[in-house]
Amino acid sequence: MDGNGRWAAQRGWPRIKGHKAGVKAVEAVLEAAVAEGLGHLSLFAFSTENWKRPGPEVASLMALLRMYLRMFRRRFLEKGIRFHHLGASAGIPEGILRDLKELEAATASHPGLVFHLALNYGSRLELVEAARRCVADGLGAEAITEESLGARLWTGGAPDVDLIIRTSGELRLSNFMLWQSAYAEFYVTETLWPDFGGAQLRGALEAYHQRERRFGGL
Ligand code: IPE
Ligand code: MG
Repeated sequence: MDGNGRWAAQRGWPRIKGHKAGVKAVEAVLEAAVAEGLGHLSLFAFSTENWKRPGPEVASLMALLRMYLRMFRRRFLEKGIRFHHLGASAGIPEGILRDLKELEAATASHPGLVFHLALNYGSRLELVEAARRCVADGLGAEAITEESLGARLWTGGAPDVDLIIRTSGELRLSNFMLWQSAYAEFYVTETLWPDFGGAQLRGALEAYHQRERRFGGL
């Protein structure tokens, strides 16, 4: 979800107004994802590197996040959306962590869209933690396979990424799902995240359906 700051700057507004507008985009995209019948939607909200941002921006992002989690709770229950926090627990303020766990528990049996919120997420850390878990589980060298390692990632039993949508024209992965997106299709749009919505998601899906996926085969 990139481009909130630039969206606000273009209007001469403080960055936090861009983040607030970004929440509206989340609402629209979530609704469209449900309507399109998607199985999984992952949104990258905050990386393990984002803590390097100025204190006041981090604090207001966390406050916004907390408000937003509470606001979305009813929608998750109404629409049968399953919530999943993707990322490390260590470092997340305790109150938010509690909210995240509670939302996961409250929606665990939901059959619909699985909504992965990547918060305090970094793909390299995820891989390191998965390797550590292999050791902790007593796996020998020969037992470490794509399946056994993949199952220990935070994405656990979720399928590989089919489509990565990158907003605001950035052309990099930024430590996002390095393993899971091995054969993901890329869709890059100049649209800034706050301007992204249902129509833009549908546009990206249309482009995706035009692609021919060969997964390294012929
Ligand atoms: C993305 O918008 C939101 C977060 C990373 C929380 P940015 O804050 O990165 O916006 P730009 O890149 O400065 O426009
Ligand atoms: Mg950015």
